[in-house]
Amino acid sequence: MIHLGVNIDHVATVRQARKATEPDPVLAAHLAELGGAHAITVHLRQDRRHIQDRDVRLLRETVQGILNLEMAAGEDILDIALAVMPDQVCLVPEHRQELTTEGGLHISRDDRRLGNAIARLRDSGVMVSLFIEPDPATVQLAKDIGADAVELHTGSWANAWAQCRGDEHDEALIQQLSRIEEAADAAATIGLRLHAGHGITYANVRNLLHLPLLRELNIGHSIISRAIMVGMERAVRDMCAMLSAGPG
Ligand code: PXP
Repeated sequence: MIHLGVNIDHVATVRQARKATEPDPVLAAHLAELGGAHAITVHLRQDRRHIQDRDVRLLRETVQGILNLEMAAGEDILDIALAVMPDQVCLVPEHRQELTTEGGLHISRDDRRLGNAIARLRDSGVMVSLFIEPDPATVQLAKDIGADAVELHTGSWANAWAQCRGDEHDEALIQQLSRIEEAADAAATIGLRLHAGHGITYANVRNLLHLPLLRELNIGHSIISRAIMVGMERAVRDMCAMLSAGPG
């Protein structure tokens, strides 16, 4: 079965909007695991706009399955990762103004910063995946610089899917899907673990499930959006019950 990594960053986004204590991503992670999540994914960004250091430390203590830490390959975050020891790290590019991770890593064989981060994490027993554009040459580079896995950025495919509403004859969608398939084939051929993520929704996810040897999907926005919707009625009912119970 393909493993589901649930990205809970947006729970922390809501908390940070008020600098409050709720909703707590640690509790959300627990509920996600009760629902069957195989992995809990969090992105500790340099600007700490959502997940905080405290969240990562507590998640390390409470997550029962896999803790997958997304991070840029900077020294400061690397030190935190090596202190916390997640099961898995996904190295991502990070730009300050972006709304979300907008593209894959640019990899070159002599990228010392990336190579060094991969080596330090792997030497400590952390599995390392690289978030990359779906491109066979980049998959090969990921292998060359020592990664265990690649996470294919499915954002462009998801945008194409949304544009044509999943019309399987749409040329742009066909082209985006073949990029992903070719990259997936390359990963299978050279023995890299295959993960994918970004922009995956309840509507489009089935169109990725045929990929050979796909091991893990990381999904955030769509699951958190649905969690709000399926939880809204209950939350309002609970407050109405408080109001009818009266003072006391
Ligand atoms: N994988 C990576 C590497 C990401 O950066 C993100 C977004 O934080 C996701 C998966 C999840 O993307 P989405 O929120 O669109 O499902």
